[in-house]
Amino acid sequence: MISNVSLLNRITHYIVRRKGKQMRPMFVFLVAKMVSNGNFKEKTYRGAATIELIHTATLVHDDVVDDSNRRRGFFSLNALWKNKIAVLVGDYLLSKGLLLSIDNDDFDILKHISVAVREMSEGELLQIEKARQLNITEDVYFDIIRKKTATLIAACTAIGATSVEADKDTVIQMREFGELIGIAFQIKDDLFDYSDEKIGKPTGIDIKEQKMTLPLIYTLNNCDKKERKWLINSVKNHNKDKKRVKEVIDLVKQNGGIEYTISKMKEYQQKALDILDNYPDSEYKNSLITMVNYVIEREK
Ligand code: IPE
Ligand code: IPE
Ligand code: MG
Ligand code: MG
Repeated sequence: MISNVSLLNRITHYIVRRKGKQMRPMFVFLVAKMVSNGNFKEKTYRGAATIELIHTATLVHDDVVDDSNRRRGFFSLNALWKNKIAVLVGDYLLSKGLLLSIDNDDFDILKHISVAVREMSEGELLQIEKARQLNITEDVYFDIIRKKTATLIAACTAIGATSVEADKDTVIQMREFGELIGIAFQIKDDLFDYSDEKIGKPTGIDIKEQKMTLPLIYTLNNCDKKERKWLINSVKNHNKDKKRVKEVIDLVKQNGGIEYTISKMKEYQQKALDILDNYPDSEYKNSLITMVNYVIEREK
């Protein structure tokens, strides 16, 4: 991916050196294999590469939106090159991803990707809207994470199936499978924010950004009136005060917000595993089971 703009080359070099978990391409490959009994197409590779490019683009933009200075164990692009450049590089990566499909006439892939990109933008915007109003419900939380995260993983599993010419029902079922994984995945990500573990990006920044995730939403709905008032006031007016944020986290923990969130995450994990029951046993299916469990048990 060489351009004649040297600044861009420097930045893409920087990005390529810091790989993430590459979980999404793995889902593309394994689903393609499972639904076709071990088959594989050139198109499967292109689908996987497109997805990872789009995913990387959204992370670059997300760190601008969240004002976050770390990613994949090192500085985010906005931390090193500032927002203007990060926004443009994100757009560049997005277009590269789309062109990989367009140049190969992979219009079915392109359709899944475009739906995902639209929904991710909607999800991020809905999240901002709710952070301003501080009135998020559990339903809205699930709507946000389905859009901002699960839709891309749904695209992975749908593209895996479509790349080996699976029938329409299989593609739909695989899309559903990916969506369930994606919801569990984002719940896990939100749980990390309540921990002190080293995961290669900041923790404890959701409340600072007035982002209310499931542990806090549950606590707000299940604590007494006085605590509720204190919580809302903390998130509204003291969200940049580290000591106060720590107290909020402690209250969430005392009220069972973490346990509740874990139980919800496991519900989605189980629903995803149930879908795999419809497929005959194979090494690919076993690997997918391992991947689904990894989403829940991972340490970064
Ligand atoms: C991070 O995704 C963004 C979320 C949807 C939470 P990953 O955790 O898969 O990011 P990388 O690619 O491994 O860095
Ligand atoms: C996930 O959102 C990123 C996208 C879906 C674009 P978050 O903001 O919650 O993810 P991290 O924690 O920064 O990776
Ligand atoms: Mg973020
Ligand atoms: Mg974000």
